[in-house]
Amino acid sequence: MTVAIDSDKLMGFVFKAVDEVGATLNAALVVMGDRLGFYQALADHGPTTPDELAERTNTDQHYTREWLNAQAAGGFVEYDASTGRYTLPPEQTVAMTDPNSPAYLPGFFQIALGTIQHTTETIEAARSGAGVGWHEHTSDVHVGCERFFRPSYNANLLPSWLPALDGVVAKLERGAKVADIGCGHGASTVLMAEAFPNSRFTGSDYHQASIETARQRAAGLGDRVTFEVAAADKFSGSGYDLVTTFDALHDMGDPVGAARHVREALAPDGTWMLVEPMAGDHVEDNLNPVGRAYYGFSTLLCTPASLSQPVGLALGTQAGPARIQDVTTAAGFSRFRTVAQTPFNLVFEVRP
Ligand SMILES: C[S@@+](CC[C@H](N)C(=O)[O-])C[C@H]1O[C@@H](n2cnc3c(N)ncnc32)[C@H](O)[C@@H]1O
Repeated sequence: MTVAIDSDKLMGFVFKAVDEVGATLNAALVVMGDRLGFYQALADHGPTTPDELAERTNTDQHYTREWLNAQAAGGFVEYDASTGRYTLPPEQTVAMTDPNSPAYLPGFFQIALGTIQHTTETIEAARSGAGVGWHEHTSDVHVGCERFFRPSYNANLLPSWLPALDGVVAKLERGAKVADIGCGHGASTVLMAEAFPNSRFTGSDYHQASIETARQRAAGLGDRVTFEVAAADKFSGSGYDLVTTFDALHDMGDPVGAARHVREALAPDGTWMLVEPMAGDHVEDNLNPVGRAYYGFSTLLCTPASLSQPVGLALGTQAGPARIQDVTTAAGFSRFRTVAQTPFNLVFEVRP
């Protein structure tokens, strides 16, 4: 069968793909600019020549020239042909250099670049159905994850997510017992512990290196904050007033087993705050830029992580509220409601 080809559409797609190749390379260019201090130097000094950028960052001007041109072509910096100088606009300055802004982006690129470094193993895993564990990735995945999520937790956890839960802030202020499971580097654990000095926090994660980093991040908070290496279906303790899970349930091999253990570990009137990636229930709900990035991470990072563990349910990042609720119902929870959302996250209140 011969299918008529619209040559304008074909060339339109080819040029869209050219932009994609530029974007693919830009992941490495952003990490390069972040690590070598290029964005910070541009932010500090305003309009800059390649030679000045090289001198200020102690790098080679051949690299700064090409890097600046790539950044200008991609709209990350602006180029003034009359002066030969490059400027990081104010909005890009926030997004590329301010770790306290919810718009801060370097961590997003760092986890993306770290993730694709494992593409060869992931291709083999796709043939065999095997998994690739979170712990098998480079530290760029673990550090990038922390750097990507922390600004959003800083912006949302205390002002909106915790207050959206029924009665939880009052308990935390009085003194509550909290477990943060799948805590990674403990960004959320530390943030909550700093805000609620009467409460006690236990962070857990199956990944030993992440727990070691979390302990360093919490240094100075005393014995109110402890961390343990434990899978989510085995973390220690009981009678928790609050259990939290931030962007981790879908990475687990057995989310139903984890949810069952959370239910057993909660106090009878306890609350599980479950934070998961933004997603709708249907594929067509997620065919947008955030869904695209998350389906990409799901294919290359989160689904292989789940498949590397017992059960290997492989929920994926874009499971959506209905599927997540099914998991909690299967574990014996009876109440489930969506209490908050951002462009990147959904927040669920789950109760016995
Ligand atoms: C996307 S990261 C999120 C980390 C952290 N909660 C945050 O928001 O920065 C997912 C985390 O889930 C952890 N994880 C995966 N499977 C797990 C399991 N079965 N039990 C406990 N933690 C698990 C990983 O080690 C990783 O730290």
